[in-house]
Amino acid sequence: MKKIGVFTSGGDSPGMNAAIRAVVRTCAYHNIESYGIYEGYEGLINGEIRKIGARGVSNIIQRGGTILKSSRSEAFRTVEGRKKAFENIQKFGLDGIVAIGGDGTFTGAAIFNKEYNIPFVGIPGTIDNDLFGTDFTIGYDTAINTVVEAVDKIRDTATSHNRLFIVEVMGKDAGFIALRSGIAVGAEAILIPETRTYINQLIEKLEGNRNGRKTSMIVIVAEGDELGGAYEVAQKVKKQCPQYDSRVTVLGHIQRGGSPSAMDRVLASTMGNAAVDALLNGKNNIMIGVVNKEVAYTPFEKAIKHHDKLNMNLVNLAEILAS
Ligand code: F6P
Repeated sequence: MKKIGVFTSGGDSPGMNAAIRAVVRTCAYHNIESYGIYEGYEGLINGEIRKIGARGVSNIIQRGGTILKSSRSEAFRTVEGRKKAFENIQKFGLDGIVAIGGDGTFTGAAIFNKEYNIPFVGIPGTIDNDLFGTDFTIGYDTAINTVVEAVDKIRDTATSHNRLFIVEVMGKDAGFIALRSGIAVGAEAILIPETRTYINQLIEKLEGNRNGRKTSMIVIVAEGDELGGAYEVAQKVKKQCPQYDSRVTVLGHIQRGGSPSAMDRVLASTMGNAAVDALLNGKNNIMIGVVNKEVAYTPFEKAIKHHDKLNMNLVNLAEILAS
C-alpha cells in the first residue's frame, strides 16, 4: 500500500478529528501517503481529494466536528455515483480507504465493496453507539457527557419548581444514549425503543414517585421511542395527569458537538491506528471495534445489525434505582 484515503461520513461525532489524525500519522509512520476525501462519499464522487501530511493534522485532536466535513450522500446510493467514486479512486491511485462513520456509511461501503472490491476499512464514528462489533463508538462518551451536563442543569430548575421534565435525546432508532445518560442523571424513567413503553406504566411510575415525595422528575426519552418524541409523550402524560407542572426539552444537535472526551480521543486514536494496520495486513470490508479493550474486526454487514448489544442489566439497574 502506497496511498490511503480517509473520509468522514454521516452525522459527525466528537472524536472524528482524533481518528483522522491517527490514520494520517500512522500512514506517515509507515511512509504511506494519506489523502483526505472531503464531505464523505460526495468527495469521492466529485474528486474532492487532497494529500494531507502529518503536520496537516496538528492541533485537531481536541476539536469537535470533522476537518474533512461530512455528508449523507444521495448520489452514492446510485450506480452512476459509485462508478464515479471508483474512477476517482483509480485516478488518485488510492490503494485503500478508511471510512469513518456509522451504519449508513458502512452500508454504502459494503455495496461498493461487492461492486469494485477496493480495500475498505471502517471506523465507527457516531454518537448513537448503534453498531455491533464494538463496545463503544467514537463520540458516544462525549455525547453522553453533554446530555448529563445539560440534564443536571435541568434538574436544578425542576427541583426548584417541583416540575416534571421530559427530555428528548438523540440515538436514531436506538436507546444507547438515553439509557446510559438516564442512569447517569438519575432519571425517574427512561423510554427507549428496545423496550416497549406503556403510557399507563409510565404514569404509575410517576405517581409512585410523587407519592414517595420526590420533588422533581426527569423522564429521558430516546427520539426513536415507539411512544413518540418528548412532545408526544408530554401530551399523553398531560391528558391523564393535567395536574402535573411539566416542561419539555429537546436537546438536539448540541449532543453532536464539543471537544471530545479523553475516552473518545483515546478510542479514536486506537481505532485510527488499527484501521491502517488492518489495511496493511490485507483486511477488507470490515469495521474496526474495541471489545473488552482489544481491537476487533467485524464485517460491515454484521456491524450494521446492532440492537442485540443493548445491555439489559443496565435497563434493570435504571428501574431499581429510579424508585
Ligand atoms: O446518527 C447521528 C444522529 O445525530 C442521530 O442521533 C440523529 O437521529 C441524526 O443523526 C440526526 O441527523 P441530522 O443531523 O441529519 O438531522
